[in-house]
Amino acid sequence: MKYMLGIIGAGKIGEAILSGALAKKLLSPSDVILSVRTEQHRKNLEEKYHVTAVLSNREVARQSEMLLIAVKPRTIFEVLQEIADIIPEETVLISTAAGVTLESMQTRFTKKVALIRAMPNLGVSVGEGMTALAPARSTDDSSVQKVKRLFEAVGRALVLDEQYMDAVTGLSGSGPAYVYLIIEALADGGVKMGLPREVSIELAAQTVLGAAKTVLVTGEHPAKLKDQVTTPAGSTIDGLMELEDGGLRVTLIKAVVKASERAHQLLHK
Ligand SMILES: NC(=O)c1ccc[n+]([C@@H]2O[C@H](COP(=O)([O-])OP(=O)(O)OC[C@H]3O[C@@H](n4cnc5c(N)ncnc54)[C@H](OP(=O)(O)O)[C@@H]3O)[C@@H](O)[C@H]2O)c1
Repeated sequence: MKYMLGIIGAGKIGEAILSGALAKKLLSPSDVILSVRTEQHRKNLEEKYHVTAVLSNREVARQSEMLLIAVKPRTIFEVLQEIADIIPEETVLISTAAGVTLESMQTRFTKKVALIRAMPNLGVSVGEGMTALAPARSTDDSSVQKVKRLFEAVGRALVLDEQYMDAVTGLSGSGPAYVYLIIEALADGGVKMGLPREVSIELAAQTVLGAAKTVLVTGEHPAKLKDQVTTPAGSTIDGLMELEDGGLRVTLIKAVVKASERAHQLLHK
């Protein structure tokens, strides 16, 4: 096959993965083909990334070793139907569509394709994504590792059983939205105490980034790190008491539960 990676649906997620893989030199522009729907978009992406950009999904499917389909869930079956007869045997096909199961995709193909379901998040657009990969049982490990390396070019990636994908969707898939809300609220607190808005947002965002990094780098339990910041009779314990009183912890737990349940409902629609 002519191209190592083909992308159908170069929107927010598709373009972010492309941009990360090129920036990390995991792929060079000549390794990539993608399809878009309008000539203007095609021209923009070709000029920006110097990849082969076409207007035909079939052309991409026919020539790609790894095929990333990053269209909306409501469009994916239309795309699978369009490419099913032309896709070469053994293509590694990755779908980022939320709530679309491996089984429902598998039934669209009569030939053997190596299917992998991926749940990335918006962090991929800045190289700090979190992606869970659920391979079909028949997908070989070397294909899984290849796809893992692709997503590691734009953040972290781990391989999980498909049964966990709803929970992943409710936690890390939707999670950036929860954290944006938290950053906004922390910044509002700073503004209430007289800080300029931009300063407040920077303080809040970098604080969240630093806290996240200490968890990942040290591998410590978050509760232990929290204890390190909390001086006896200091100011932090007063702040924590307010958060407990406001039910922050249980509210976040419930947010993950609700979003996971919704992901599951979408799946069975
Ligand atoms: N955004 C997230 O945070 C996130 C997180 C996890 C998973 N996902 C999943 O990733 C997928 C993509 O999400 P997104 O946020 O990147 O959406 P998006 O920005 O809307 O991108 C979708 C892209 O698909 C293109 N497209 C639509 N129909 C097509 C077709 N028939 N053939 C070829 N291309 C087509 C669209 O082109 P036009 O611009 O021309 O319409 C658009 O560029 C979704 O399934 C979503 O569930 C997204």
